[in-house]
Amino acid sequence: MRDPLRRLLHRGLEVSGLIGPLHRRQERRHAELSSDPYQDGLPMPPAALIGAVAGTGSQRWYSEKGQQDAAWFISVASSHGVTLGGARVWDLGCGCGRIARWIAPDVLKAGGDFLGTDINRQLVRWCAANLPGRYLRNGLQPPTTCPSGDRNLVYAYSVFTHLREPAIRSWLAEIARVLQPGGLAMLTFHDEDYAAAWGPESVRLSLQSEPLVIFNDALEGSNYLSAWIRRSTFVALAEEHFTVLEVVPGRRDQPVQALAVLQKRS
Ligand SMILES: C[S@@+](CC[C@H](N)C(=O)[O-])C[C@H]1O[C@@H](n2cnc3c(N)ncnc32)[C@H](O)[C@@H]1O
Repeated sequence: MRDPLRRLLHRGLEVSGLIGPLHRRQERRHAELSSDPYQDGLPMPPAALIGAVAGTGSQRWYSEKGQQDAAWFISVASSHGVTLGGARVWDLGCGCGRIARWIAPDVLKAGGDFLGTDINRQLVRWCAANLPGRYLRNGLQPPTTCPSGDRNLVYAYSVFTHLREPAIRSWLAEIARVLQPGGLAMLTFHDEDYAAAWGPESVRLSLQSEPLVIFNDALEGSNYLSAWIRRSTFVALAEEHFTVLEVVPGRRDQPVQALAVLQKRS
């Protein structure tokens, strides 16, 4: 946002706290506009809930993109020797189960355990009532109630994209605590490639010289705040706890975030 007056107005709304209700109203409006009925075999969340995680209310988009992203996680995990079926899986920041709906049924069928957690009580409640698996609320900051070494696979799609650096650091440490030695974490983030194609202009410019940029610095954990991190910065933060197996850059041809694949050190 280049216009200084608009920037000032936004800052006023952020400082006064009015940005929260305004942002949520805008999310609901977008969701209503793009709402469309679609079936994929499991109950579909209402448009307002889809809107709260995806910025659209489209059930078709939600279902098809969820299936694609789930297939992506499954294939990346498998390329590192981990099969999701039968695993003890944690979907951190599960939203209303966009990805969980495609992963939890197979994990459970194969004798594994599926846990989804999120800061948003409404989303977690909807998942618990409508999807296979167990769903719990967690705080903006860790710890969770998960015992240490309880999981062998954690994924988080577009969660680190809405956290400031202290929370990013704490969640990396928490994921490492909850993973068994050798366990895998797959975490998406907005890197410089994703920013180059899909980021606001101010972010694109700042990220050329800064390691981590926060856009709209209010309402941490909501889609209002977005975090943009150079790949080398994410790697350095992750290496405090993990061996970094792979970092897939974000895509410029379609809005697919960067993915860090991390292994808990034995
Ligand atoms: C962009 S949405 C993505 C939701 C889901 N992962 C998906 O791909 O559809 C971001 C989600 O992260 C959740 N979230 C943000 N901060 C969180 C935190 N500290 N712990 C757990 N969930 C968080 C939000 O409530 C929201 O549901």
